[in-house]
Amino acid sequence: MTGPDPRPAALDLLVLGSGVAGLSAAVRAAGVHGMRVGVLTKGELTQTTTRWAQGGVAAVLGEDPDSTDLHLADTLAAGAGLCDTDAVRVLVDEGPGRVNELIALGAMFDRDEEGRLQLAREGGHSLPRVVHAGGAATGVEIERALVEAVHATAAALHEHAFAAELLVEAGRCRGVVAYDRDGRRHEVRAEHVLLATGGAGQLFAVTTNPLEATGDGVAMALRAGVAVADVEFVQFHPTALHHPRMPRPLLSEALRGHGALLRDVHGERFVDELAPRDEVSRAMTRRMLALGVDHCLLDATGLEAFDQRFPTIAAALAEVGLDPAADWLPIAPAAHYLCGGIVTDLDGSSSLPGLWAAGEVACSGVHGANRLASNSLLEGMVFAFRVVERIERGDAGPSATGAMRAVLAGDVGPHAIGGRRAADWSPPPSWERPIPVPVDDSPASDPADAVSRARARLQRAMTAGAGVLRSATSLDETSEVVEAAASDLVGPTRTVTAWEARNLVDVARAVVVAARTRTESRGAHTRGDFPGRDPDLRARIVLDAAG
Ligand code: SIN
Repeated sequence: MTGPDPRPAALDLLVLGSGVAGLSAAVRAAGVHGMRVGVLTKGELTQTTTRWAQGGVAAVLGEDPDSTDLHLADTLAAGAGLCDTDAVRVLVDEGPGRVNELIALGAMFDRDEEGRLQLAREGGHSLPRVVHAGGAATGVEIERALVEAVHATAAALHEHAFAAELLVEAGRCRGVVAYDRDGRRHEVRAEHVLLATGGAGQLFAVTTNPLEATGDGVAMALRAGVAVADVEFVQFHPTALHHPRMPRPLLSEALRGHGALLRDVHGERFVDELAPRDEVSRAMTRRMLALGVDHCLLDATGLEAFDQRFPTIAAALAEVGLDPAADWLPIAPAAHYLCGGIVTDLDGSSSLPGLWAAGEVACSGVHGANRLASNSLLEGMVFAFRVVERIERGDAGPSATGAMRAVLAGDVGPHAIGGRRAADWSPPPSWERPIPVPVDDSPASDPADAVSRARARLQRAMTAGAGVLRSATSLDETSEVVEAAASDLVGPTRTVTAWEARNLVDVARAVVVAARTRTESRGAHTRGDFPGRDPDLRARIVLDAAG
């Protein structure tokens, strides 16, 4: 990010984040509608969770007996009663068009010898419908195509700029406060701001997400009192390689789609390999607890041509000395995806006029309590497109559609999903207030060390108490550690790592409050003390300024 522009022409659209959602919006807004678009990201443009996506994009593109109705039914079943059916309908109907546009932009998906798209099957899908690239390197290819396109169209690219707070004036989002590499403060103004900052896997000690996944967009929204929901639904991917490397190398669900088997450490099978992710992760965690071990095994020895079909996974395994043709691979669940986030309507509008959200940062209602495999890249493309079209048509603020019904319409009756405000929630304080006195300002203390210790402490506590299995006791214990980590972070350190750690604290607080409020087990949220599903809790837990 360079210094302040002497003639700061306001942008039409400022996009925060450079993954599939952010760049899809930027390319459409600038390339198709000629909007003046800026993209702002805390790292380099290519440093995003999208790059790490393996399996692919679920969309009805083949000539097989699949139909969008089946895709809809599979998504609703995985979401455990909390998907917004209208939002899922939009996702499955509009998804194929968005994938075809990506292909037209130059993204190369894997094809068979006749040139037809290869379709893989993954957990929770009743048929093969997942398109992929480079075997299991789909995210890299999508990011490559979008980065090329955005370079050709966007008016301003701000890399290494950390967005800290939303600029809110007269009840409307007008831009963000961002800091450049030298810690200088800038106000980046725009008519519309799209948060596409991804998820928060770094809340946990064991995750498949890159270091950058620190919940920055959700945290900014929480501090501004913008409605956030469903954050208790943190999806754990069952087949992360059990290895000290962090982020954990992912062994794509496509392996199970191709016939890989799950076994316990005694070699016994114990779960349907193609069940939705929450079921598989829960079954694995229970099996590991029963056997007193920290991993299970993935048996991919029966897969033909592993190296050709999954070259990037084969390479990752070779690096750690594993041969999928001969070895059963050690695996354990790892935090993978935040199903909830900033509540949006069917066009990506948040509860704050002028602020939009798309992709993992958003709660559009398509994932409910547990996301169906390979629906995430699709969601990013579909809802980013809708944000841009809505802005182009004229902005009317949020409507009571999609997940936004839970905020604007409250109790909406037995069919649509209403909202409940979490009783013990109030928005965390803005960083724009005077910086508090540091807890430990002795010359001997190293602020960078304090920050990384606090982050690691929070991550361990979240994994232990707010992970795959939770209870009131474990959540209370986690909350205490999160508050201790928060007080370790009070201080004047204006560094990206300190801001990220503070964002993790704000999001961790939200996850814990929502998980405490949801006194039932549903989808990716499992309470040992409330093992059943409670029909009265078929509602979104909403965290906002009205809480
Ligand atoms: C995977 O390849 O297993 C991950 C895909 C996803 O998260 O949907």
